[in-house]
Amino acid sequence: MLNRLEAQSPDALLALIKLHAADERPDKVDLGVGVYRTGQGDTPVFAAIKAAEQQLVDRQDSKSYLGPEGDMGFVNALMPYIFGADATMGGRIAGMQTPGGTGAVRLAVALAQKAGMERLHMGVPSWPNHAQILNDIALETVTFQHSNPDGTANIDAVLEAIRNAGPNDGVLLHGCCHNPTGIDYSAEEWQAIGDAIAETGIFPIIDTAYQGLGHGLEEDAAGMRSVLAKVPEAFVCYSCDKNFGMYRDRVGAFYILSDGQDTLDNAFSNANALARASWSMPPDHGAAAVRLILRDEELTKVWKDELDTMRSRMRDVRRALADAGTAGSVDLTPLGGQNGLFSVLPVSKEQVAQLREEHAIYMAGSGRINIAGLTMGNIEKFVDALADVTG
Ligand code: LMR
Repeated sequence: MLNRLEAQSPDALLALIKLHAADERPDKVDLGVGVYRTGQGDTPVFAAIKAAEQQLVDRQDSKSYLGPEGDMGFVNALMPYIFGADATMGGRIAGMQTPGGTGAVRLAVALAQKAGMERLHMGVPSWPNHAQILNDIALETVTFQHSNPDGTANIDAVLEAIRNAGPNDGVLLHGCCHNPTGIDYSAEEWQAIGDAIAETGIFPIIDTAYQGLGHGLEEDAAGMRSVLAKVPEAFVCYSCDKNFGMYRDRVGAFYILSDGQDTLDNAFSNANALARASWSMPPDHGAAAVRLILRDEELTKVWKDELDTMRSRMRDVRRALADAGTAGSVDLTPLGGQNGLFSVLPVSKEQVAQLREEHAIYMAGSGRINIAGLTMGNIEKFVDALADVTG
């Protein structure tokens, strides 16, 4: 039976991790998969997480099952950060823990499909796994251009997609720190998107995987919140993998917004059933550590300071790249105004290969770079190499 299967190529981003690890050149630069790195190139465990994990070792008295919704203390503790001071938006939100942001996206689109969503509009480029998940559940995807060549968001394209949507359509939006472009909507653009969604009734799914890595925890949530304030229903997919540095522990959450209590309860029961059939229940450890941090004022402060350090280092790198001006044919100035871990450079697949082979610089074939892979020690090498292959 198994010889009927067609071989699949490995996920290109994850394959880069192995390629980079096998490279023995001492000055190699990893701008591939989206993990934060310090100025020394490390991805350390947050001090706040270490402290919370120690508390778990000392005090956790059982690892018995929790249920498909996971750690509800974690789910609730995150809500003020995501939704603001009125953390439940007047009791209109129900949430559950998921295995990473990917689990939340998977659950969101599967539940939307079960509720009758026929097509999902998605800006491109997007995180490659969005398309893979949608393809896997066979939900029809309609694409629009997310950004303009000058490094601004293509607001006309998203508004047109929303206004022309059919009655059973949805739209997938990145809450902040757009992956891969780093190009986010402005406050006015978010308002216009919220108005258009409210007018047409298209169903919004907002994927927020990088809160705090753009301009700050509150600032990065503002656009998403302005949409949620205008619409009767939405899904929010959330990841703590980046802003708590929990990558391999897979810490995510899925939230449902609805106007009616019965509808909300009903949707939550369906999400619960889908989770049970998919992974039964999410892994506990990382979410338990996040809960301990968010319930402890001192640890929360330690965590926020660590997040501030990450964000300001990435802003420094972006400033240095923008200050470099151009590298060969690549204008680096727009990168200064973009947000989060990623930006996309206008380079060809051949130039990406050349950067890897001749300069030991690893980046996605799409031209995406992980800003956090750059340090004050290797930016010059990177800019010179870029000039070499594109000049
Ligand atoms: C990325 O885009 O590099 C990250 O979100 C990691 C992943 O799972 O792809």
